[in-house]
Amino acid sequence: MKISVIGTGYVGLVTGTCLAEVGNDVLCLDVDVNKINLLKQGEIPIYEPDLEDMVRRNVSVGRLRFTLDQAECTDHGLIQFIAVGTPPDEDGSADMQYVTTAARAIGQNMQDYKLIVDKSTVPVGTVDRVRGVIYEELAKRGVEIDFSVASNPEFLKEGAAVDDFMRPDRIVIGADDDKAIELLRTLYTPFNRNHDRLVVMDARSAELTKYAANAMLATRISFMNELALLAEKLGADIEHVRRGIGSDPRIGYHFLYAGCGYGGSCFPKDVKALQRTARENGTGLKILEAVEAVNARQKEVLLDKIRARFGSDLSGKTFALWGLAFKPNTDDMREAPSRMLITGLLAQGAAVSAYDPVAMDETKRLFASEPGLKLANSSMSALEGADALIVVTEWKMFRSPDFSEIRRKLRNAVIFDGRNIYDPDSIRTEGFEYFSIGRP
Ligand SMILES: NC(=O)c1ccc[n+]([C@@H]2O[C@H](COP(=O)([O-])OP(=O)(O)OC[C@H]3O[C@@H](n4cnc5c(N)ncnc54)[C@H](O)[C@@H]3O)[C@@H](O)[C@H]2O)c1
Repeated sequence: MKISVIGTGYVGLVTGTCLAEVGNDVLCLDVDVNKINLLKQGEIPIYEPDLEDMVRRNVSVGRLRFTLDQAECTDHGLIQFIAVGTPPDEDGSADMQYVTTAARAIGQNMQDYKLIVDKSTVPVGTVDRVRGVIYEELAKRGVEIDFSVASNPEFLKEGAAVDDFMRPDRIVIGADDDKAIELLRTLYTPFNRNHDRLVVMDARSAELTKYAANAMLATRISFMNELALLAEKLGADIEHVRRGIGSDPRIGYHFLYAGCGYGGSCFPKDVKALQRTARENGTGLKILEAVEAVNARQKEVLLDKIRARFGSDLSGKTFALWGLAFKPNTDDMREAPSRMLITGLLAQGAAVSAYDPVAMDETKRLFASEPGLKLANSSMSALEGADALIVVTEWKMFRSPDFSEIRRKLRNAVIFDGRNIYDPDSIRTEGFEYFSIGRP
């Protein structure tokens, strides 16, 4: 099939590449000239495991191409995926300007039938809105062309995006138009061989499903984080509690880790946007208000522990920070807990020496003018002369480090573990003062 993807970010690039991988002819559009030029040279602008090889492979056989030309993009695909960003607006609602622009451009350029598919995470009612915008543009041109609009929210996880797309748990399709449903069923056949993963519903339910999924996952995290604070006060260990409840199949082990708060490009904005939608519709989402408040407090927990140990004036102190990305296997730092921590430490007069296996360039871009932040070449060199180590992102490479080398390099043998990746007893045996989340 001929497929166009509008917006070549995390979701658009993965979608386009995986659809090319199974044999489709894919054209990806973006407005970012640098991004498209980089992709045309065979380089990818983000870190995502397995993606670069797959992009190169499909580009080399001509199944995957990139363009800045909107008319070419509209002309190419029978199916037009909209995968542009929907960042939070000032009032917390999803900013729909990019989706609207993409829809408008399709209406301005289309010459024959197109199926337009919202893959971006968009408020309920967007399928109707996109349809309205395209009608408007067709009317301006004085033409009548048949088209369909459907919702197909994306559930991939950064860091495992290719695998998630190639082996999805479910493929949600929201449409009340048989032609759209059949086209999408055909497109997804290669991902659907083992058993039927298609969940077909009306567009509004599909749009709400995406927000509901992220809201539920964020709720589990905030629930555990709040319980972790109580566990600390009670002398209980949240990790034991996690295993104790996770073993119940009605609860399960996923997304039950206490830590230093959730971040990323999705949970924070989607939790906000869903609350906004509820308010606009005269109802509240009290649970999500609490989820957000708990998360905001949790992002300060590490700084609170550091201040409790070293005092509130941190001038003259240096902290080594391991992990900058909002989670392992990505270089995405949108709403990453590390950002708030770095800003907080610098504001208290401390210096920070940071290391992340892939997010160094992004950190440089975000903190370019911060003289107090030094970017280290390796995890061990970040420790040189630091007063303590703070683990913020649970990269695998941080899990079993050489503790005697850490002790030699640090000025004080102190570790703050924002992800509970070390065992408290063995780390204390190694001679460290150890602070983690929700454990005695
Ligand atoms: N990142 C994730 O893990 C993830 C997962 C599921 C769903 N989503 C949703 O998918 C959407 C995209 O997220 P993302 O992380 O890929 O965003 P992103 O910021 O990485 O990419 C969006 C891209 O769209 C481009 N763009 C903006 N307007 C355009 C236009 N008119 N024409 C062409 N390109 C345009 C931007 O330049 C950018 O490259 C969001 O709604 C997000 O909530 C994201």
